[in-house]
Amino acid sequence: MNLSNGNRNIDKYLKKDSVIIRPMKVLDLDDVLRIERESYVEPWLRDHFLYELQTSRISKTMVLEIEGKIAGYVGLWLLHPEIHVTNMTVSTVYRKQGLGTKLMDYVMNLALESKFKVITLEVRHNNDAALALYRKFGFEIRGIRKNYYAAEKADALIMSRTMR
Ligand SMILES: CC(C)(COP(=O)(O)OP(=O)(O)OC[C@H]1O[C@@H](n2cnc3c(N)ncnc32)[C@H](O)[C@@H]1OP(=O)(O)O)[C@@H](O)C(=O)NCCC(=O)NCCS
Repeated sequence: MNLSNGNRNIDKYLKKDSVIIRPMKVLDLDDVLRIERESYVEPWLRDHFLYELQTSRISKTMVLEIEGKIAGYVGLWLLHPEIHVTNMTVSTVYRKQGLGTKLMDYVMNLALESKFKVITLEVRHNNDAALALYRKFGFEIRGIRKNYYAAEKADALIMSRTMR
């Protein structure tokens, strides 16, 4: 079945083992960059992802696949005792179907298993979808970076979630 046209029966895939979260590979980058471009005014470029995948010693970058098709990804910096979320993206056709929640579940489990104390991130102040996702996982606003997203003249909210 073709899921790429916004199929709303995604629940049945979430219940099966057809959703997997695995490390991002260089070969994934064409798909990832397409999702990145459809999602952000200032998308990350190939070099940025290559740095995270090949050079950085603190990065962990995972993709979420549904039946072999990349539907989203999450970028992390592991700065023990802190996890910083650098990127959290779901492809437009797959949004509002619980995949962002799946990716955040992954981050929470990683934090618990590896005994991280806090998860931090920045989010555009008017990004309702992301704010809803982060609030659902207990993130709270800790501060503001004025004009952080300069191209959009938008402020960033600094959010964090303490692990207990
Ligand atoms: C933010 C994003 C990752 C959420 O992914 P998603 O797969 O749609 O998230 P989910 O379906 O798991 O939804 C998570 C919660 O947010 C809510 N939500 C999702 N989209 C929403 C929207 N547009 N407005 C309000 N709430 C929304 C859902 O209702 C859900 O809450 P619930 O479980 O209580 O119903 C996705 O919208 C995205 O990729 N946006 C573009 C990139 C981006 O801005 N990333 C964040 C950078 S900080």
